[in-house]
Amino acid sequence: MFDNQRDWEIAEEMGVANYGQMTAGGWMYIGPQGIVHGTFNTLLNAGRLKLGISHDEDLKGRLFVSSGLGGMSGAQAKAVEIAGGVGIIAEVDYSRIKTRYDQGWVKRVSSDLSEVVSIAHEYMNKKEPMSIAYHGNVVDLLEYIVENNIHVDLLSDQTSCHAAYDGGYCPQGLSFEERTRLLAADRDKFTQLVNKSLRHHFELIKTLVERGTYFFDYGNSFMKAVFDAGVKEIAKNGVDERDGFIFPSYVEDIMGPMLFDYGYGPFRWVCLSGKHEDLIKTDQAAMECIDPNRRGQDRDNYIWIRDAEKNKLVVGTQARILYQDAEGRVRIALKFNDMVRKGEIGPVMLGRDHHDVSGTDSPFRETANIKDGSNVMADMATHCFAGNAARGMSLVALHNGGGVGIGKAINGGFGLVLDGTKKTDEIIKSAMLWDVMCGVARRSWARNENSITTAIEFNKNYDGLGHITIPYLANQDLIDEAVDKAYE
Ligand SMILES: NC(=O)c1ccc[n+]([C@@H]2O[C@H](COP(=O)([O-])OP(=O)(O)OC[C@H]3O[C@@H](n4cnc5c(N)ncnc54)[C@H](O)[C@@H]3O)[C@@H](O)[C@H]2O)c1
Repeated sequence: MFDNQRDWEIAEEMGVANYGQMTAGGWMYIGPQGIVHGTFNTLLNAGRLKLGISHDEDLKGRLFVSSGLGGMSGAQAKAVEIAGGVGIIAEVDYSRIKTRYDQGWVKRVSSDLSEVVSIAHEYMNKKEPMSIAYHGNVVDLLEYIVENNIHVDLLSDQTSCHAAYDGGYCPQGLSFEERTRLLAADRDKFTQLVNKSLRHHFELIKTLVERGTYFFDYGNSFMKAVFDAGVKEIAKNGVDERDGFIFPSYVEDIMGPMLFDYGYGPFRWVCLSGKHEDLIKTDQAAMECIDPNRRGQDRDNYIWIRDAEKNKLVVGTQARILYQDAEGRVRIALKFNDMVRKGEIGPVMLGRDHHDVSGTDSPFRETANIKDGSNVMADMATHCFAGNAARGMSLVALHNGGGVGIGKAINGGFGLVLDGTKKTDEIIKSAMLWDVMCGVARRSWARNENSITTAIEFNKNYDGLGHITIPYLANQDLIDEAVDKAYE
């Protein structure tokens, strides 16, 4: 009853609630580094799934187009470069472009569309990475791309569509400054312009998809905003959002099946000594724990950690993110604890983003690819939290909100301080496995193919130590026949 944005705001005003968000709720926020890694993984796996790129290749010669160089969206330009591709990212606010340019996260800036496209083509032909900020509206960029028949491999959007009418989405035809003035002066007019722009934006995406581009929603409520702007056609059932939208979300199509179902997720650590040399030592040790030839995902993670120092990803705390599966996380954690024990590094705090295999129940994001109907429940995050507490994690968190808003997600997080003791070794072995495999089990019970194979492999490797019940896969023809008979 009180699990909604409005009641939460009242509770906050009364001083009885605060917003947990995601990583912040588990004391594991490490700045934009996490989103760079997540975007890097999403782009590479989109390439594997949709462009036929093999597991040992990157995005060289491929074009990614998107929008937004803000807080989180600012990761896109850097991520596509690390993935070896060429990216054009539209941004209306020049101050956002300047921040990313000064930081070295975007290489070229232009407000001339023909120049933007010619730089992109130059680097695609050379098969070298490049990131270009287009200073202008993403709808103008897409219009130019459609009119000039330019091929785009991967397309997304990361304007703040979760708050489209509050200034998160700048309508076509207005500069950033005009948008700010109109928002203050005439909200109705602003809303009308946002709706018109979103409708046109959708038409342009549709044309590009018809021409072979792969478009995905990147967790910014873009498709919901288009629907709210009056485009019923974007809903699968043409009426409401109950059956989802015609374009996939990144978790549904990419992250879910390619990463979460295997147990890969955003494992991270913080060097509590605050010393940069400790971070470099942990990077090196983590790299030695990864076999890059096992799967494409391992290769991506190996490259990520190998180049992490060169890519200057640390903002503030000496922290690192590295996507790993359950066994990888355990191996790395035990290695770090041993290094602490030997006095090679100071203590380390382990944790993760909640945007992970098990940590979050969120039917429009983390659990979007769970299709057995159970994604409307919040059991997984709660099990994960309770199991982690029982197994001795140093810190556990369970909270509402995060990414998609109050009432739409439950997040469970943890922190574990590596102090070099044998007791901590035992906590790692039991709690880290639980933290990941609890989500793999849930995904496998929902019949997600890659989770079933991961669960079977777990049962083999941990025979006598742990066991996941494997779902019984009924014969679909038999079910159809029985249902037909019953309703004849
Ligand atoms: N996929 C994920 O895991 C993930 C993670 C974090 C955030 N998000 C979502 O992504 C969105 C962006 O997050 P953020 O933190 O970067 O927000 P932000 O507001 O800091 O950045 C969005 C940027 O888009 C620009 N913009 C708006 N309309 C534009 C237009 N028409 N053309 C060009 N540029 C335009 C804005 O000027 C702004 O700089 C949010 O909706 C957020 O909820 C997704």
